[in-house]
Amino acid sequence: MNDAILEMEHITKEFPGVRALDDVCFHVKRDEIHCLVGENGAGKSTLMKILSGVYPSGEYTGEIIFEGNVQNFNRIDDSKKAGIAIIYQELALIPELTVYENIFLGHEIKNGFVMNWNETIKQAKEMLKKVKLDVNPTAKVKDLGLGKQQLIEIAKALSMDVKLLILDEPTSALNESDSENLMNLLRELKKHGVTSVLISHKLKEVIGIADRVTVLRDGKTICTLDAHKGEVSENILIKHMVGREINNVYPEKAARDIGGTILEVKNWNAYDTKLGRDILKDINIHVRKGEIVSLAGLMGSGRTELALSLFGNPKKYIIQGEMYVGGELKKFKHPENAIKAGLAYVTEDRKGNGLILIQDVKQNVTLANLRAIAENGVVNNNEEVVAANEYRDSLGIKTPSIEQKVLNLSGGNQQKVSVAKWLFVKPQILILDEPTRGIDVGAKYEIYLIMNKLVEQGMSIIMISSELPEILGMSDRIYIVSSGRIAGEMDAKEATQEKIMHLATN
Ligand SMILES: Nc1ncnc2c1ncn2[C@@H]1O[C@H](COP(=O)(O)OP(=O)(O)O)[C@@H](O)[C@H]1O
Ligand SMILES: [Mg+2]
Repeated sequence: MNDAILEMEHITKEFPGVRALDDVCFHVKRDEIHCLVGENGAGKSTLMKILSGVYPSGEYTGEIIFEGNVQNFNRIDDSKKAGIAIIYQELALIPELTVYENIFLGHEIKNGFVMNWNETIKQAKEMLKKVKLDVNPTAKVKDLGLGKQQLIEIAKALSMDVKLLILDEPTSALNESDSENLMNLLRELKKHGVTSVLISHKLKEVIGIADRVTVLRDGKTICTLDAHKGEVSENILIKHMVGREINNVYPEKAARDIGGTILEVKNWNAYDTKLGRDILKDINIHVRKGEIVSLAGLMGSGRTELALSLFGNPKKYIIQGEMYVGGELKKFKHPENAIKAGLAYVTEDRKGNGLILIQDVKQNVTLANLRAIAENGVVNNNEEVVAANEYRDSLGIKTPSIEQKVLNLSGGNQQKVSVAKWLFVKPQILILDEPTRGIDVGAKYEIYLIMNKLVEQGMSIIMISSELPEILGMSDRIYIVSSGRIAGEMDAKEATQEKIMHLATN
């Protein structure tokens, strides 16, 4: 008898410009807990979205065999009916509804056309018991913590007779005891015939629970390891995860003249009232003049949150701790205060809030510092043109003219406009969040050259990047962020992909 519950064969999926999955094979045995691991962008979520019908058959090539039958899921409902449930990190519950309403939403219990609430509540209680969650089914979901909400999602899956439960990074936002609860529940469900696929970057957790582990890297299956044959260890997993080649695409660093501390953050904590949890815990970091310091870490580790909390705290976290710029204690109430004190922040999301795409290059360049070229509230067009031309030349922005709409430029050139916008403010400390995401190799190299030039002129750069080769190739010093904490600090000279990954996955 075939002991496989799921066989995904030769799955290839392309997005415009990226092959997210390249001939991936993924086999899950009945009644096992199978972990799926890999760096950011390896293709884990995409593979699971294909399995669940988010990307319908026809949008990928390859074959899905579930319970012995070839499946062509066209919608999420199709995979649900077959017995597959996916729980995402961003939960899909409706906060304003009660626990029991959420559990039975979409498959309500009715007498004819009338809802049978008594029966619904009774069955909801049973489901809650199965996931060992002691809450009143009539409580509203919004009043429960994240760990409990996750268990309710699982209860919902169980109420639909799930055979294969998929969890996509469920514990990255949970505290330790909630995570442990969840792992115990998966073990319990396994005894009752529920097979699980768990995506997690917490390798200790993976090692503690996995029967088998599959490693993806750059859209390819690297290997499947059997824990019961002693094939799974942290070192082995990391070795397979980080094998990405370091090709020589980083400019030579000139001997740098690194000066004294320009930014220092002490005992820095941030609480996100919207999420109802601490997102930064006891952060102590410093940045010197003329230095490139990187924040390395996995998605969700808190790197962007840290940058935002320093840059005037636009998300209004509750912050404790001290921040010094140039030796002076600062308490920024707004990004504008941070800009005045010499900070600049180039966002990861150029299209979202970095640039105004329908405006032209010169308007975007001067966006952040209109005051410098405006007198009495009137923009001085001459100065705007002079400034924009200056940055076009010094950053090598390839545009037919500074009157060109930013929308019409390539991603790399948009990124340069983004950087120009902030250089116009003449910052001392430039924060770059994923500065080369989604831009081609040539434009990447030019961004690197610009970064080196800026630090040679005495600017300090904090770079957030998910690409380990980029971190190694560009930084002077590296902080590794994991679960909202600084998990380690390294001089770039002693750093390796493996060392960083060990700290990032703990
Ligand atoms: N909707 C999308 N559009 C374009 N590219 C995408 C989309 N979703 C994922 N990708 C790309 O596909 C690759 C795999 O992403 P993903 O499956 O999310 O990785 P993981 O979950 O392992 O971090 C990445 O290069 C990512 O940028
Ligand atoms: Mg993912």
